[in-house]
Amino acid sequence: CGIVGIVGKEPVAERLVDALRRLEYRGYDSAGVATIHDGVLKRRRAEGKLFNLEKKLASEPLAGNIGIAHTRWATHGIPNETNAHPHFVDGVAVVHNGIIENFSELKDELSADGATFETQTDTEVVAQLLARSRRAGMGRREAMLAMLKQVTGAYALAVIFADDPSTIMAARSGPPLAIGYGRGETYLGSDAIALAPFTNEITYLVDGDWAVIGRDGAFIFDHDGNAVDRPRQITQAAAYMVDKGNHRHFMEKEIYEQPEVISHALAHYVDLGAHTVRTAVSDAIDFASLRGLTISACGTAYLAGLIGKYWFERYARLPVEIDVASEFRYREIPLSTDQAALFISQSGETADTLASLRYCHDAGLKTGAVVNVRESTIARESDAVFPILAGPEIGVASTKAFTCQLTVLASLAIAAGKARGLIHADEERQLVRQLTEMPRLMSGVLNSIEPQIEALSRELSKYKDVLYLGRGTSYPLALEGALKLKEISYIHAEGYAAGELKHGPIALIDENMPVIVIAPHDRFFEKTVSNMQEVAARGGKIIFITDERGAAASKLPTMATITLPNVAEIIAPMVFSLPIQLLAYHTAVFMGTDVDQPRNLAKSVTVE
Ligand code: G6P
Repeated sequence: CGIVGIVGKEPVAERLVDALRRLEYRGYDSAGVATIHDGVLKRRRAEGKLFNLEKKLASEPLAGNIGIAHTRWATHGIPNETNAHPHFVDGVAVVHNGIIENFSELKDELSADGATFETQTDTEVVAQLLARSRRAGMGRREAMLAMLKQVTGAYALAVIFADDPSTIMAARSGPPLAIGYGRGETYLGSDAIALAPFTNEITYLVDGDWAVIGRDGAFIFDHDGNAVDRPRQITQAAAYMVDKGNHRHFMEKEIYEQPEVISHALAHYVDLGAHTVRTAVSDAIDFASLRGLTISACGTAYLAGLIGKYWFERYARLPVEIDVASEFRYREIPLSTDQAALFISQSGETADTLASLRYCHDAGLKTGAVVNVRESTIARESDAVFPILAGPEIGVASTKAFTCQLTVLASLAIAAGKARGLIHADEERQLVRQLTEMPRLMSGVLNSIEPQIEALSRELSKYKDVLYLGRGTSYPLALEGALKLKEISYIHAEGYAAGELKHGPIALIDENMPVIVIAPHDRFFEKTVSNMQEVAARGGKIIFITDERGAAASKLPTMATITLPNVAEIIAPMVFSLPIQLLAYHTAVFMGTDVDQPRNLAKSVTVE
C-alpha cells in the first residue's frame, strides 16, 4: 500500500491524488483520500484503480488544507469501497500500510467494550483504539502513544483528528515512511518519489518512530515517547522523470531503456577504459577470506540471484547458498561469520528480504544489498550497498531491474574471482570487455526482434499453458520467462531445468502446450537439444530461442526460432532476457490485460 499526507496552506485533495499516482505501484485495489474542512472529516474512496477515485473527486470535490490518502493492496478484507482507507471512527481518520498482527484480539476486546466495526480490515482497530482513548479524555499525542503500545506487527500509519486541522500524526514499524519539508507546508509519503514534486528535502522515519507533523516541520519521537533527531537529506528522486515517453506502457519503456541503464550500472562497477572491475567495488566485501556466500531475495530478484550463484561458483569458486527470502528467514540455517550474505531487491523494502537481512546481521555476517532504491531500508541496514542504477521501475513486472541486477552480480563475481586469485588480469580484461559490449548488442536485438516476437505473441496468446526450459544460467531464465508470462498475461506457465523434463513435465507435452527452449550455443547446447528432441518426439511445439550458431546447428522443426547474435557466455542471460520480456509483454497486450498493473500483484510488498 502507499501512503501520503499534506499539512498545507492550500487545498490538498488534488495534490494528494497526484502523489498517489506515483505510489500506485505499491497497490491499486482501491484508493481513498480524507481531509478536514471546517472542523469536519470528509473522505472520498473508490474501489479499483486511482482513476475511479479521480472521477469521484471531480464530481464531488473535497475542500481542506490538510489531508491523508492511500492506495491499497488488500491483505485483510476484499478490495471494496468499505474496506478502502481512510478509516473513520469518531473524528479520527487512519491510513495504514502493513499488517496489524494482533488485530483480531484487539477487535474482540474493543467489541466487548461496545465498539462496532464497519470493515473487515485490520486497520480499523487503530482508529477504534484512538477514538476510545479520546473518548476517555486522552490528548491526541497520549492516545497515539497508547495505541502504538497496543498494536504489534508491521505498519506505516498516518492519522488526522477532526479537532486538530493543523497536524498529521505518523508512525513507522516496518514499511517505509518519509517526511518532506516545504515552504509553509509539510508532507508525508511512503517514498521519496511520491514527495518529489513537493520537495527534495526529506527525513526517513526509523522503525519505532512516530511523528507529529505540522505546517512548519515535524517533531519525531521514539517508541517510549522521547524526542529524537533524525537527519534531513536531499534526495535525487526529483530528478527522475516518471512518465511513459512514447511507449504504450511503462513495461515497454523499461524494456527499451535497458541498454542505457545497463551502461550506467557498468560505468559504476567497471573501468570502461582499463577493462577492470573498480577496486571500490571489489573491496566492499572481503571475498578472498570468505568460505561461502548466501543470497536471499523474492520474485524476479531471487531469479537474478540464482543466475548469480552460477557465476560466483564458476568464476570465484565461492559456494553459494540461495533461497527465497520467505523460506530463508524461517529455516534456522546454521550460518557462520566466514560467510557473507547478499540481498537483492529492486525496491529495497520487501518485508521478507528485509527480515532475512536482519537475521544474517544478527548472526554476525557481513551483509551486502543489491538494490535499486539507495535510500531504502535494506540499503540503509546493510554493511555494503551495491546500487543497480536502473532508475525508477514502474511496471509491476520487473525488467530493467532484473538485467541491471545481473550486471551488478556479474561484476561482483568477477571481483570475487579476482580477489580469490582465480581470475587473472587477462581474463578480467576479457570478461569486462564482454560486459561492456552489452548495451550495443542489446540495442541491436531490441531493434531487430520485435516484429517477429509480436507475431509469435499473437499465436502464444491462444494457449492456456506454456513450458519454459533451459540449462545452466538459462535455467533461471526459463523460470523468469514463465514468471513474466504468468504475471502479466495470466497464461499458466512453468519453468523447468531442461534435464528435469523427463522426470515429470514431459507427461504434459502435447500440441496444446508450447515449449519455449532457451539455448544459446554454450557448453550445454547439445544436451538441451537432446531434451528438445524428446519434446518433438511427443508432438510438442517448440519455440526455440537461440543464437546464430545454435540456429545453424539444430535441424529440428520448430513453431518459431528466435535467433539472437552470438554473444559471450557471461552476458547471455542479459541478452536472452530481451526476447523473454518482449514475448510476455506482447502476449499480454494481445490478451488485453493491464500490463503495468496486473491483477492481484503489487510492485513493492511490505508484508510477509
Ligand atoms: C513483487 C514484484 C516482483 C518483485 C518482487 C520482489 O512480487 O511484483 O516483480 O520481483 O516483489 O521485489 P523487490 O523489490 O524486493 O525486488
